[in-house]
Amino acid sequence: MLSPKVETALNQQIKMEGSSSNFYLSMAVWAEQNGYAGVSEFLYKHSDEERFHMLKLIKYMNERDGNVVIPSFEQPKSDFSRVTELFEELYSHETAVTRSIGELVGVCLDEKDFTTHNFLQWYVSEQLEEEALAKTIMDKIKLMGDDQSAWYHFDRDIANLTVTSAADSAQTN
Ligand SMILES: [Fe+2]
Ligand SMILES: [Fe+2]
Repeated sequence: MLSPKVETALNQQIKMEGSSSNFYLSMAVWAEQNGYAGVSEFLYKHSDEERFHMLKLIKYMNERDGNVVIPSFEQPKSDFSRVTELFEELYSHETAVTRSIGELVGVCLDEKDFTTHNFLQWYVSEQLEEEALAKTIMDKIKLMGDDQSAWYHFDRDIANLTVTSAADSAQTN
């Protein structure tokens, strides 16, 4: 059984992951409409990953006989001035998610729920990698500046960029 506090915090995280999925889906649509095919492919995949994060929480709560609440989601932002702004928002969104996971882990410790604490370690590692990936992309964007040919290559290469491939390239650099 989950304590009411852990249950509430897990439901909040379900909303957070679902909102992330919708937000990245909205970004993917914008990128596709604005000619960034690679960026859009990356974001569609990222949106799917966030949905998977949400589902993983739902399955866990059901396994523990918790009361899952599928929330309503606010309409995500759908207009961006440029790709740089989009990725700035993605990066700051990921840091907010990391804080939220940290708070959730804190609730589990307060409630002495070590099973959920253990389950959440996957999210702790995942956030570390996702933040690193977002940071890698922001670094690339700063380097490119207004170099159009660099942007062309960026859009082509990002479609194959995943959390794992970014971690590998960070290790070899
Ligand atoms: Fe996530
Ligand atoms: Fe994420």
